[in-house]
Amino acid sequence: MNKVSVIGAGNVGATIAYIAASKGLGKIILYDIVDGMPQGKGLDMNESSPIENFDSIVTGTNNIEDIKGSDLIAITAGLARKPGMSREDLQKKNADIIKGIAENIKKYAPNAIVIMVTNPVDVMSYHVWKITGFPKERVMGQAGVLDSARLKFFIAEELGVSIEDISLVMLGGHGDSMVPLMEYATVSGIPISKLIDKDKIDAMVQRARKGGAEIVALLKTGSAFYAPAQATVEMMESILNNRKRVLPTSVYLDGQYGINGVFIGIPVVLGRNGIEKIFEIELDDNSLKSLQASADIYKKQIELL
Ligand code: NAI
Ligand code: 2OP
Repeated sequence: MNKVSVIGAGNVGATIAYIAASKGLGKIILYDIVDGMPQGKGLDMNESSPIENFDSIVTGTNNIEDIKGSDLIAITAGLARKPGMSREDLQKKNADIIKGIAENIKKYAPNAIVIMVTNPVDVMSYHVWKITGFPKERVMGQAGVLDSARLKFFIAEELGVSIEDISLVMLGGHGDSMVPLMEYATVSGIPISKLIDKDKIDAMVQRARKGGAEIVALLKTGSAFYAPAQATVEMMESILNNRKRVLPTSVYLDGQYGINGVFIGIPVVLGRNGIEKIFEIELDDNSLKSLQASADIYKKQIELL
């Protein structure tokens, strides 16, 4: 069985552990610094296994050494946004937390593939990559699957069709600068532009861009976690089962799309070796400029880091 560790057992981390366990993705370690909390959540999840019928065991722990030998690690530890707080405001506080975690991953799980979730995710992916010194194929951030899912949901709702038939990708950084590739978006192969007016599409794209903030404003005490956790598990599943799914993922670019030295969302192939291929697709001028502008924002954030 694969060994999967989830660092941070808060809303996103615990939900990832639960979905991953119920899909039988492996033996799961759920780590947090809060005494007893990951153990309690892990036991609760395990007690649901005879009803849900899964064999994955979730072991909650406050001992970071328990991540030893993990095949895959998802990092969700840190603060979530409160109303009025940008993802970038989180950067300083979360960078300190991630530093300690990255050092422990390097020490105890040197062969792991790492999926960063903690925000600002593109910058934190860079941070963990630098500290672990892992090959760039083994460090990535989750954002694009979530951002794309939000837009897919709005489009399916608008058209009154199944979400299964919507195909699109959101690229760029996980912030207001994210780049929707609407020229490639389809409903069962039919270009979206043939089915929905441009104004409506633009409004939905804008809503997806602000999708995280919309939920923060409603929840008031935290940020989204069901869709973010599903998105992370989709990436985990493609890696652990070597599915080779093509998923928008925050990856280190060294020249692709004319971008260098940052993590940013791009369509990639995810398999047992991590990021197995980066697709460099032809973009129209507008999308390419937006993607490069998005990368510039994260370059500045990395300088701050
Ligand atoms: P949460 O507050 O529910 O959970 C965070 C957990 O991290 C807490 O249980 C806390 O005790 C733990 N923690 C803090 N320091 C730690 C350390 N050194 N080691 C281990 N655990 C530690 O927050 P939530 O909602 O789970 O969000 C977690 C992070 O994920 C936030 O930064 C949030 O912004 C980000 N996020 C990213 C998304 C994405 O698409 N990339 C989507 C949703 C959330
Ligand atoms: C989101 O997009 C907070 O990044 C998180 O929901």
